[in-house]
Parts: sequence; structure tokens; C-alpha cells
Amino acid sequence: MTAKLNVNIDHVATIREARKTIEPSIITAAVICEQAGANGITVHLRQDRRHIQDRDIELLREVVSTYLNVEMAATEEMVSIALRTKPDAVSLVPENPTEITTEGGLDVVGNYENVRNAVEKLRSAGIFASIFLDPDKEQIEAASGVGAQQVELCTAEYAELTLSARAAHGDGAKRASDEIERIREASAHARSLGLIVAAGHGLTYRNISALAAISQITEFNIGHNIISRAVFVGLNQAVREMIDSIKIA
Ligand code: PXP
Repeated sequence: MTAKLNVNIDHVATIREARKTIEPSIITAAVICEQAGANGITVHLRQDRRHIQDRDIELLREVVSTYLNVEMAATEEMVSIALRTKPDAVSLVPENPTEITTEGGLDVVGNYENVRNAVEKLRSAGIFASIFLDPDKEQIEAASGVGAQQVELCTAEYAELTLSARAAHGDGAKRASDEIERIREASAHARSLGLIVAAGHGLTYRNISALAAISQITEFNIGHNIISRAVFVGLNQAVREMIDSIKIA
């Protein structure tokens, strides 16, 4: 079965926030992604509100007809926004105010009670609970322990290793294939615990195929590369090309 694609449209809001104006509209972006065949829309409501704003979540909730996945830190403020706006899914992510983008998976082992509380509140409100994790056995087991329904495996390390300049030199290709193996094993382990497996971060038209071939991964969350391509070919085509890249694998 081909994995689903949720398009992360944060960077449409990044352009809008560069001028604190009303365009480009993330509502239009969400509709175009859905029309192009995306299975869902993902946004990250960051604590610093550097791109997506609270009002965007409210508007997206009204407009998105496929699946709305909101990434957020496991804080009281964020969970209460989720309980009020009711996205289909929440992905709990770590957040560091100085990071350029999410830097890795959430440490569920080290924040067990806090994450368990957040998951419990989300699930009681009927919101599907996912946790963004490094492909690490102990973290996956902790995610299962806190009651998450899905894990999203962080592919940042793989993405870094497949940047063309690095892959071409030294043992780059070998390290990338080792990382694919690590993600494959983590996916199988998560499935064996009954968790649904998603993946994301740094995925591109160039590096997606090896991961799309891992049958346990049933959803990808991809943003920066699609929005970057959309600058040149339009959002509809950019989304279609990513869907095709996932299918070909
Ligand atoms: N998944 C998670 C949990 C993320 O935090 C991000 C970045 O916001 C993505 C997926 C998408 O990453 P990218 O923009 O590199 O495709």
C-alpha cells in the first residue's frame, strides 16, 4: 500500500509572516494541496508563533476536509488549544526556541509523565495522538507506554546524510544505508507494539524513495521541499510530484 502524504504548509505562513500581512493564504494553500491529492495538511503551532498563528488553526479546522495534523510541544497551553480546536491529530514534538527547525525526536523517556498527561487529554477528546521520535527502541517503547497511537520517526539524520555533497564523499552512502536500516528496524518494532508508523523531516523528491519502500511506514509529513519546489512549478504540481515520488518506490 502506498503511504499517505500530509503536506506541511508552515512555510507558506513563513512568507506571510515575513511581512505580517495576509498573503500568501495558508487556506488557499491547504485547498490546493488537497485538490492535488494530498491526504492531509500538517502545521506546527510553535510557541514563538514564528509562522502558524492560533487563528490559522481555527480557520484550517473549518476548511480542511481531509485530515488536519497539528504539531505542537507537550505544554498545557498547546494542549488546551488542541482541545478547543480539535484537529484530527496532534503530533507532539520537542521545541527549542533557538532552533531553526525541529532538531530531533521528543525525549519521551525523560518526560514520561508530562507526555502521558498530554496524550491522555488528547485521546479523551477524540484526537489521534502521535509522537515525533528518533528511531530508537527505548523511545518507541515509551511512546507505546504513554498511550500514543502513532509514532512519527524523525528522518533528519537520514536527510542530512543524503544531502548530495555528503553522500558523494567518504562513507556517506554507507552511513545513509545504515540509517535506512535503523529506520526500518524502528518501524518494525513500532508496528509490533501496535503503533502506526509515520516519518518525516528533511524528506525530498531525491531521498524519499528508500523510505517509501519501507512497508510499515504508512504516512509521510513533508514541508520544506514541497514548498520550495512550489516556488518554481506551483503548489499543485509540487504536491503531485511528491505523491508520484512516494508511489514509484
Ligand atoms: N514532521 C515533523 C514532526 C516536523 O517538525 C517537521 C518540520 O516542521 C516535518 C515533519 C516536516 O519537515 P520538513 O519541512 O523538513 O519536510
